Amino acid sequence: MSDPNTPAGDPMDPFVAWVRQATPYVHAHRGRTFVIAFGGEALASVGLPTLVHDIALLHGLGIRLVLVHGARPQIEERLARRGAAIRYVNDLRITDDEALACVKEAVGVVRVEIEALLSQGLANSPMAGVRIPVASGNFVTARPLGVIDGIDHRHTGAVRRIDRRSLKQRLDDGAVALMPPLGYSPTGEVFNLSTADLAASAAVALDADKLIFLTETPGLLDPEGQPLSSLLTQEVAGLIESRPDLPQEVGVCLKAAALACRGGVRRAHLIPRRIDGALLREIFTRDGIGTLVSRTPFEDLRPAQVEDIAGIQELLRPMEEAGILVPRPRERLETEIDRFFVLERDGTAIACAALYPYPADAMGELACVAVHPDYRRKHRGEKLLRHIETLARNQGFKRLFVLTTQTAHWFRERGFEPGRLTDLPMEKRALYNSRRNSQVYIKPL
Ligand SMILES: CC(C)(COP(=O)(O)OP(=O)(O)OC[C@H]1O[C@@H](n2cnc3c(N)ncnc32)[C@H](O)[C@@H]1OP(=O)(O)O)[C@@H](O)C(=O)NCCC(=O)NCCS
Repeated sequence: MSDPNTPAGDPMDPFVAWVRQATPYVHAHRGRTFVIAFGGEALASVGLPTLVHDIALLHGLGIRLVLVHGARPQIEERLARRGAAIRYVNDLRITDDEALACVKEAVGVVRVEIEALLSQGLANSPMAGVRIPVASGNFVTARPLGVIDGIDHRHTGAVRRIDRRSLKQRLDDGAVALMPPLGYSPTGEVFNLSTADLAASAAVALDADKLIFLTETPGLLDPEGQPLSSLLTQEVAGLIESRPDLPQEVGVCLKAAALACRGGVRRAHLIPRRIDGALLREIFTRDGIGTLVSRTPFEDLRPAQVEDIAGIQELLRPMEEAGILVPRPRERLETEIDRFFVLERDGTAIACAALYPYPADAMGELACVAVHPDYRRKHRGEKLLRHIETLARNQGFKRLFVLTTQTAHWFRERGFEPGRLTDLPMEKRALYNSRRNSQVYIKPL
């Protein structure tokens, strides 16, 4: 009979599985500071209410939020009504008196709209019972961009300083901070700022954990047409130079992302805003949906530590159950952990391999090569193999061997030749499990 205290339910229920997989991210993000930047286009879109609900959810989960918004379409619309337009020179806008008047007007309207949306609280809506204080103010000191190549950029400015203390205070009080693309100078003037630069400056000033750009354009693709999921800060300039096809918005956001990362921000993300729920996917799943910019690689191959044991066990368990790998009890993993290497992706071990030394025979054993099924066929197995080979060579070994039951061809295609039991070090031969009947493969180094 089934235990009446155990709720019935399908352990593979996708809803339950999704919530569980998101849990580590919920814990990890609580109390962190995210700066989220979006253009004025987001405010004119039908997806705005859902975006605001998602932002409210992040706030509800204890994430400290700074929203930096643009207002370009709203400004352009006002200028058009006056029969004028913003002038651009070398991608930099020139804000004359008329444009500045439109900027002030547009920013005021946008601010009121965002505040209204964040103040909703109707029953039967995702905002029911939510009360989000919104704070905005003169957080940004600006200076004029000045005269560049003989052209005066008038009221177009650059960030000079962010009032970090006031901003932090508002966040400590539980408010969402709202930053329009405006700054004030000690002379009392108002300057029109680039949303991307302002977002990067705010993220650096606040030592933010994430800077997120919600872009209007679809996600960034690599030359093979695959989503470009991560980029190192030092790769950004090269990518922009080699890809004249990149939308201007993407180039601007990438540059600001790299700047922010160099200034200490842990991670910057470019997420296509038009995909429903993109923000939640990026923040609460391991692989996200956009492009991550960071100073250190998102995926890191490194020696395993005791803290990795649970992750390695989880990775190996299905392959042990399928008889592909020999089961390793936790105690054995604990004593042998310094033989292991893991490929870590966003804090999770997605692949591993181990090297066991037999110095007396100048041989090394490659063991436990495993790549999580979701991450196969992207040469991660090969990367681990190359790493182990280099290590074995550096330790003076002449040959690398492996015992395998179901993966012989993978090794053969990578230079391993069939061997005999008698080719193995004596120590290993003594432990050979004849019931398992593994095949021996050897690669000269
Ligand atoms: C074998 C394994 C480590 C490869 O990892 P990976 O990151 O996908 O490796 P790569 O991207 O470098 O190689 C992928 C290629 O290996 C092939 N491959 C995968 N498993 C294979 C197997 N059992 N036999 C032969 N080829 C195999 C794939 O088909 C693919 O080739 P293709 O694209 O030409 O079809 C991974 O499939 C795995 O973890 N398997 C289960 C554990 C295992 O068998 N470990 C070895 C124990 S001795």
